[in-house]
Amino acid sequence: MSPIGTAEWVMERCDDLTRHSSRPDALERVYLSPEHSAANMAVRAWMLDAGLDTETDAAGNLWGRRAADGTPQRPGTAGEPALVLGSHLDTVPDAGRYDGMLGVVLAIAVAHRLRDVPLPFALEVVGFSDEEGTRFGKALLGSCAASGQWDPAWWDQADADGVTLREAFLQFGLAPDRVGDAARRPEDLVGYLEAHIEQGPVLESAGLPLGYVTSIAGARRFVLTITGEARHAGGTPFSRRRDALVAAAHLVTRIEELAKATDCLATVGDIRVEPGAVNVIPGLAELTLDLRGRTDNGRDALWEQISAAGHDIALERGVKLEVVETHRAPSTACAARMQAAVATGIAEATGASLGSVLGLWSPAGHDGMAMDAVTDVGMLFLRCRDGISHHPDEHVEAEDVAIALDAFTEAVLALARDHEEAR
Ligand code: GLV
Ligand code: MN
Ligand code: MN
Repeated sequence: MSPIGTAEWVMERCDDLTRHSSRPDALERVYLSPEHSAANMAVRAWMLDAGLDTETDAAGNLWGRRAADGTPQRPGTAGEPALVLGSHLDTVPDAGRYDGMLGVVLAIAVAHRLRDVPLPFALEVVGFSDEEGTRFGKALLGSCAASGQWDPAWWDQADADGVTLREAFLQFGLAPDRVGDAARRPEDLVGYLEAHIEQGPVLESAGLPLGYVTSIAGARRFVLTITGEARHAGGTPFSRRRDALVAAAHLVTRIEELAKATDCLATVGDIRVEPGAVNVIPGLAELTLDLRGRTDNGRDALWEQISAAGHDIALERGVKLEVVETHRAPSTACAARMQAAVATGIAEATGASLGSVLGLWSPAGHDGMAMDAVTDVGMLFLRCRDGISHHPDEHVEAEDVAIALDAFTEAVLALARDHEEAR
């Protein structure tokens, strides 16, 4: 094993975490699964090695903490307010190994580098338990719990096997009625800083290893259910059909047309058809829809257009359209002081002038969207090859991770200087 705190150590730990997968041939680790528990155990050991004491909170998020003087300290105990570094440990299906995990492991490496350095605040590292929403449709469950935004309406949301969120909590060994204990208080936090691969092509196109994030897109997710009539594929003339899948196909192409005319993004990522037989006209089609916009107003205006188009298509084709919103998160501006600290870190690590450091907004979602409710948020982006993510080909170069480690460490020290000056 490479020495802790090095870029090689970070790369190796991201490789290690691929073991904790529900599929032998691919990486998939969802909220409250046995693999989630195993990944938490592995990461906990690395946190201990880095000089942090650890605790799993009431929503399955893993926390590590040291006091301002560097002493390991149990998360959740009273003490100085903390600067939190971290990201998430859950994945999409057939995931890459860096989305989320890189940010957690990199944060542990930075904590290790700073273990003998007194800071004016406590330092914590978090591995959030559910950023992607792969299992229950609602994303950011871990960071919503940590930011005190848990909505009891979520308890009955079920996974693909019909297991509800409440049942999954109990199976994982968590008490649903204690979820409020995971909530952090604003007065106990100095800020939340996350390192993440960019998941897009901007840094690579600019020939830059790192950038700081200015804002995160607002998101909404829906399940659209189209109900027609299942009938014989041979015996039913076209004039008598109410084909749910053909209606869905029209809607999918219309969604793309509508979104392309805006600066928002819209994706239908999954379709389920019933009864799903070669010789039966589909009676039901269930689609997921993911919407993102730089502004919430832009995103919401696109949704109004999609909703109207969906109802028009349903009317034309004699089918019924029902809509359930499963997730909504506001667009989030990174705090000016956090942007400045990350930009300073990048300038110091790369030797670039502060003015030439690239700031970019994130169309991808992050735990900071939830943490913004309780503390200031900042993010460091790393270049990833071909901008690809949510795919096993996700790749980041060890050289870029080495620069990111320096930049992230410098960003923490820049925040420490600010904090001292403000006292
Ligand atoms: C998470 O990666 C998201 O942007 O959906
Ligand atoms: Mn992520
Ligand atoms: Mn992701």
